Amino acid sequence: MINADQGKHQISKHIYGHFAEHLGRCIYGGFYVGEDNTEIPNIDGVRKDVIDALRELKIPNLRWPGGCFADTYHWQDGIGPKSERPTLVNTWWGGVTEDNSFGTHDFLNMCEQLGAEPYLAANIGSGTVRELSDWVQYVNHDGQSPMANLRVQNGRDEAWKVKYWGVGNETWGCGGNMTVEYYANLYKQYATFMSDWGNTRGIYRIAAGATNDDYHWTEVMMRDVPHSLLEGVGLHYYSVLEWTDKGPAVGFSDEQYFTTMKRALRMEELVTRHSTVMDKYDPEKKIGLIVDEWGGWYNVEEGTNPGFLYQQNTMRDAMIAGVTLNIFNNHAERVKMANLAQTINVLQAVILTDENKMILTPTYHVMKMYNVHQDATLLPIMFDNVDYVHGDEKLPALSVSASRSEDGKIHISMVNIDLEKSQTIKLNIRGMDLKDITGSILSSGSVQDHNTFDNPDRVAPKEFKDFKMSKGIITVEIPPYSVIVLNSK
Ligand code: AHR
Repeated sequence: MINADQGKHQISKHIYGHFAEHLGRCIYGGFYVGEDNTEIPNIDGVRKDVIDALRELKIPNLRWPGGCFADTYHWQDGIGPKSERPTLVNTWWGGVTEDNSFGTHDFLNMCEQLGAEPYLAANIGSGTVRELSDWVQYVNHDGQSPMANLRVQNGRDEAWKVKYWGVGNETWGCGGNMTVEYYANLYKQYATFMSDWGNTRGIYRIAAGATNDDYHWTEVMMRDVPHSLLEGVGLHYYSVLEWTDKGPAVGFSDEQYFTTMKRALRMEELVTRHSTVMDKYDPEKKIGLIVDEWGGWYNVEEGTNPGFLYQQNTMRDAMIAGVTLNIFNNHAERVKMANLAQTINVLQAVILTDENKMILTPTYHVMKMYNVHQDATLLPIMFDNVDYVHGDEKLPALSVSASRSEDGKIHISMVNIDLEKSQTIKLNIRGMDLKDITGSILSSGSVQDHNTFDNPDRVAPKEFKDFKMSKGIITVEIPPYSVIVLNSK
């Protein structure tokens, strides 16, 4: 049952956010090919095909420059004349030397082209309080001040007014191997010196959050940090088979598929339990749970640099995206932002590039089909789920979320993760007489199917008509491993 005339919570568009780290070919070769590149059409060095594809996706925000890289990054090295910038060695990812040609101006100007809110992840691990407070002043202060003047001198008059800031990344690990008690103190110190510089949109500070089920981490951050200094608390969770052997991105077994789905569906438990901890200290749900890294993580493609995390993207990834986004939608009351890792050529990417070629992955198509939910009102939903059985184990086969956008249209996204069985779902739509429903489906002949540079449209959404609407009940037959979105006109 869907109560189409009810719903209290808005699905923040920022749940559909992305992440771009200086890692492998995400920035260099992915987003950025350099201003002097005459082979690949670009605007100030940023690929035009990428900008167009991400605008189509309605990308709401982009997190940068890391990840683990963020806690080695000194923003001052990436401003000013490019020929004079120092190089840096990317110690986390492949040990490659970068020339710092993609820096703060490049990223923030690119976000303007994308129509996306920037989300800057600051260096706590090897940076200083002054370095961060100067960065905030540099990008956000419109008056006369040392950093604002430096920005103007570097060619940008108007402040970018960046709202979203990460105060460290994975501070329990690559961000400094801290205890949460230590980090909570450090967080308070850094956050105190971050001003909004009169920006009426304010500043939204996101604390580096827990990994997986570390509920103690969330508890201490919520308990020990004054809420006047904290707008969001992070959470990182990847769908990984085993960290020692993550399995192949293509050519996985049915067993591995089932386990990946089990891992992906665990997001429901993690979000629920971290939210419960947050509720204890913030019953009014003012502080957001920010899942700023999520997605499938496999072994790298053969012959590629192990530090570049390049992997293909199949219908299995479409399943991860479909069920995870439904979970976030259904927890819209607490989950205010999420960032799929990572946008281009890294982990569960939405775009892959090879020199001047670019392809869209099955995950891209799911994100695009689901973008109708952005900023819509979440609708309460109840339905009888069915089991996806594999050997002695079972998982819920179906995942659904629904919303009503401002123009009154209803959107229902559905996933059937079962590898073999089609599943029928019946949804009684209450409170609204739905007419003229259109649908799209992402499905393919094999769960291993993916797009390649030679066959870029093997997996692409198609029109979907295999549903019936009678007496207020929609009956939909969902094929195995497929994603469907229905929209009322
Ligand atoms: O997304 C790749 C890496 O995964 C990030 O740099 C880090 O934050 C996480 O461990």
